[in-house]
Amino acid sequence: MSNVLVIGTQWGDEGKGKIVDLLSDQVDIIARYQGGHNAGHTVILNGKQVVLHLIPTGILHAQKKCVIGNGTVIEPCALIKEITGLQKIGINFEERLLISERAHIIMPYHCRADLADNKATGLRHIGTTGRGIGPAYKDKISRIGIQMGDLLDKELFREKLKLNLASYQVEDENKSFERIFSDYNEYADILAPYVCDVSYYLNQAIKEGKRILFESAQGTMLDIDHGTYPYVTSSNATAGGACTGLGIGPQHIHGSLGITKAYTTRVGNGPFPTQADELTAQALRKHGDEYGATTGRPRRCGWFDSLVVNFAVRVSGIQSLAITKLDVLDKSETIKIAVAYEWQGQRIKRFPANLRAVEQCKPIYEELPGWMSSTRGITAMEKLPPAAINYLKRLRELIGVEISVVSTGPTRAETIINKGTKLANWLGL
Ligand code: GDP
Ligand code: IMO
Ligand code: MG
Repeated sequence: MSNVLVIGTQWGDEGKGKIVDLLSDQVDIIARYQGGHNAGHTVILNGKQVVLHLIPTGILHAQKKCVIGNGTVIEPCALIKEITGLQKIGINFEERLLISERAHIIMPYHCRADLADNKATGLRHIGTTGRGIGPAYKDKISRIGIQMGDLLDKELFREKLKLNLASYQVEDENKSFERIFSDYNEYADILAPYVCDVSYYLNQAIKEGKRILFESAQGTMLDIDHGTYPYVTSSNATAGGACTGLGIGPQHIHGSLGITKAYTTRVGNGPFPTQADELTAQALRKHGDEYGATTGRPRRCGWFDSLVVNFAVRVSGIQSLAITKLDVLDKSETIKIAVAYEWQGQRIKRFPANLRAVEQCKPIYEELPGWMSSTRGITAMEKLPPAAINYLKRLRELIGVEISVVSTGPTRAETIINKGTKLANWLGL
């Protein structure tokens, strides 16, 4: 029985949703451990696109339990909207969704503060999703946050809301208080049936031999500790976040699967060493439909960066990789891979920890011939054009980790699953 962690190895949007959806059938529980509705995980369900924001992707699989961990931040109104939207397309939530009573709540003034931060210039201009994520985590760390469980206790909520609201500038504090108090009480009544002690639930399930897929949001380079700080999100998207964000011990994570796009994208500001020239970026954006699943912003596009993925492998102990969106490179005559950086006259092979160094690095590329034919929908390695196989082999060499999955299109069926890999072994594929 293996529990597997799914981690984004770049700047998010690697295709985690598609891969989690693909693997959900092999497990009993899918658990989200960090982030909030800043995430957008896209799945094609019966030919229709579904975007999950906070609810684990596994919800699309009847019978599977879905957990939202204490490490997440929840905007209750957005969560209710997500639940009702999914119910409308026939998804049943009865006894399937569990929300941690320790998860922190995003308040309306968190969103306003986030949007105001986005308008500021200079170092602070992160280009966030404007969902209030940063301010909610800030309050959690400052110990003035409001947890999901607090919402269910009206007197406690009243007290905590007063304390929390006092640290924000609002036009009319009393009016704001009464309105938020009454709105959030309504949300609490709707969400109450789902709220529980998630750590206890998961540990009991593990004792019963249930299998868990841990679904992360964002990506390694957006991790608050390991990413390109301050151009990051406010949670731990890397492996460690799964233990703290769900209340489980590390011995219960048996394997970690990195999700890696065959090229690189980034949405929002901050350094991106392999960002391509605008013409190349436009082509990748067009073929890959690279627009944010949450905000609709065009994603910045560039080449595969082996230093980034090697870094992700190191910080999360990734043992297996799913390479997504290979088909997006079908029309590229030559394909570049960053194999090192030039920094202060030196050739370096390790992603620097220092932001200024990252900004100064110039990628050193290796160029490989493209395949200039369609790989869309191919389901077996041997059916790929030789140049595509070569490209994957080179990635494998540079990263030193098995490639267990290759995605050749957005649907479940458009996937190559390599047998005999660690992932296949963990999940019985
Ligand atoms: P996530 O945040 O990591 O779940 O990724 P997103 O859903 O934000 O972005 C990935 C996008 O690529 C979505 O629109 C997916 O439907 C799409 N996608 C996933 N895998 C593939 C693939 O192999 N080929 C193509 N063409 N699209 C893919
Ligand atoms: P998924 O799970 C890509 C980016 C934002 C911004 C930075 C901080 O779909 O991969 P935040 O709103 O979190 O405070 O913004 O992080 N960002 C993402 N980029 N995919 C995501 O999620 C992201 N979630 C946040 O664009 O640069
Ligand atoms: Mg996304």
